[in-house]
Amino acid sequence: MAHILHIDVSPRAERSHSRSLTKHFISAWKEAHPDDTITYRDLGHYPVPTLDESWIAASFTPSDKITPELAEAIKTSDELIDELLAADYYVFGVPMYNFSIPSIFKAYIDQIVRVRHTFIISDKGYEGLVKNRKMLIVTARGGSYEPGTPTAQYDFQEPFLRTIFGFIGITDITFVNAENLAMHGEIRTQSLANARAALDKIVVNWSEANISLLHA
Ligand SMILES: Cc1cc2nc3c(=O)[nH]c(=O)nc-3n(C[C@H](O)[C@H](O)[C@H](O)COP(=O)(O)O)c2cc1C
Repeated sequence: MAHILHIDVSPRAERSHSRSLTKHFISAWKEAHPDDTITYRDLGHYPVPTLDESWIAASFTPSDKITPELAEAIKTSDELIDELLAADYYVFGVPMYNFSIPSIFKAYIDQIVRVRHTFIISDKGYEGLVKNRKMLIVTARGGSYEPGTPTAQYDFQEPFLRTIFGFIGITDITFVNAENLAMHGEIRTQSLANARAALDKIVVNWSEANISLLHA
C-alpha cells in the first residue's frame, strides 16, 4: 500500500486543465489501487505564506535553541515537510505562468526546501534527504516548448522543477506537459487527449514498478 501526495496549483477551478488532468490520473490510480491512501492539498485555493524574517531566523536556528516564537514561525513549514515525507508518490498539477511556475507554487517550494529537514550540507556538499520517491508533474501551458523548437529555451518551468526537487533528493520525476492549450479546436483537444493517454501509461508503468516498497 502506497501513499500519494496530490497537489493542485491552479487558482482556477472547473476551467483548470492541470486540475482536470491530475484528477484523471488520480481516478485511474484509485481504480487500480483502491487501498492506497491520498493526501490532497489545494494550493491554488489555499496558498501557503511566503517566507519572512522570522522564518529565515528559525530555519537556521538549531532545534535546541528554538524559542516558542521561532517555532511558531516555521509551524507551517514543519507541517508541509511532514506531509511531503509521509508520501511515496507525488502528483502535482502546475500551470505554466510567465515561462515558469505560479508564485503560489514557489511559496510552497520555499517552505519545504529546508536545511536539516529536506537537505543537508556536509563535507561532500549538498545532499537531498527525500529519496526513493516517484514524482509526476502535470503542467498546463498555453503555448508549446517542445525540445528542438525555437521556443524550447523559454521553458524555465520543467528545468527549474527538476533542479529544485532533485536538490532535495527527488530525482525520479516524470513530466506530462499539456501544451497549446491557448489554441482552440482540434489542437487543444488533441493535446489534452495525448496528455490523458500519457497519464494512463504512467499508471501502468508505476504499478509495474511496485513502488509501495519505495522509501520503506
Ligand atoms: C498569469 C498567466 C501567465 C501565463 N503565462 C504563460 C506562459 O508564459 N506560457 C504559456 O505557454 N502559457 C502561459 N499562460 C497560460 C497557462 O499556462 C494556461 O492557461 C494553463 O492552462 C493554465 O493552467 P490551468 O488551466 O490549470 O489553470 C499563462 C496564464 C496566466 C493566467
